[in-house]
Amino acid sequence: MRQFALAVSLHGCPPGPHPTTCQEDPMVTTLPAAVTAAQTDPVRAEVLDQVARLADLEEPAVEQMRAEALGAPTRGVVAYGEYQSGGWWTTSLMNHSGDPHDVVIGDGRPRPTSLLKAMPATARFLDGLGLDFMYVRLARLEPHSYLWEHRDYAELRDTGRHRLHIPLVTNPSAVLVTAGARVHMAAGALWRLTPSQAHGVCNSTGPDRLHLIADVYADDAYGALAARPHLRDGDAADLPEMTSADRAGLLERAGQLAELGFTDAAEQTLLRAFYTYALPEGGAYDLIAELHAGRGADADASRWRAAKAHLLARP
Ligand SMILES: [Fe+2]
Repeated sequence: MRQFALAVSLHGCPPGPHPTTCQEDPMVTTLPAAVTAAQTDPVRAEVLDQVARLADLEEPAVEQMRAEALGAPTRGVVAYGEYQSGGWWTTSLMNHSGDPHDVVIGDGRPRPTSLLKAMPATARFLDGLGLDFMYVRLARLEPHSYLWEHRDYAELRDTGRHRLHIPLVTNPSAVLVTAGARVHMAAGALWRLTPSQAHGVCNSTGPDRLHLIADVYADDAYGALAARPHLRDGDAADLPEMTSADRAGLLERAGQLAELGFTDAAEQTLLRAFYTYALPEGGAYDLIAELHAGRGADADASRWRAAKAHLLARP
């Protein structure tokens, strides 16, 4: 736990010498104002439940991990193809084979991959967290790339687990969408995502977004780390509702693209609506099915209804 204390500042306490409240009892630190707002606003409370800051990280630790990740000799592999537009690369730091190019997550006790062995500061940081790791990866999302709305963990056994994100390189156009809100996971913090709830990620303009992602089993160490989930002002922004005029306009534009033979572009136009509007769950997939049904392409409509069921599977 000593290394943990060196690298992580819990509950929003600034790195370095802490004010008396932090030193005396880190569990009773005054909460950031945003927590109070989040807890009283039901919409924000839902967002907080799905994505939240858990701790601030000391800049030198992030800097060292960033340098090691950017210096990695491989970008990894493009896996989970049905979930993405392309442009999402992962490489493993802790998995079951030790090969960084095995990236399909699974339960069990992982071991360091050959890549992590070449990243000593990152290995030290992970070790210092004292968590029960299931899987640890680096994930790179290129500019103009999307992970479509989905749920994770559905294929895994039913046990308590959580996903931690440490943004190493990011930009304001890289956002997670969940519960009808866009959340930019800023660097300098350790975040918790609840991936068993529907979510999607995009990097609209770039540059690349590079996150360290750790899946961990629930235990006391995780409980201590996650004791004060919070969001700061500006972390989350509500997406607007889609009006019927917006809907008609989007379907018309997609229909024109499909008519010209650009079916993929038509579908992506509708998939991207997830990042622009607060849609009901699976709403973007419904729009695509509607597009295809309207043009008599029943097989395509069925394919997208099946994709919706597959990508949004509940654990
Ligand atoms: Fe996900």
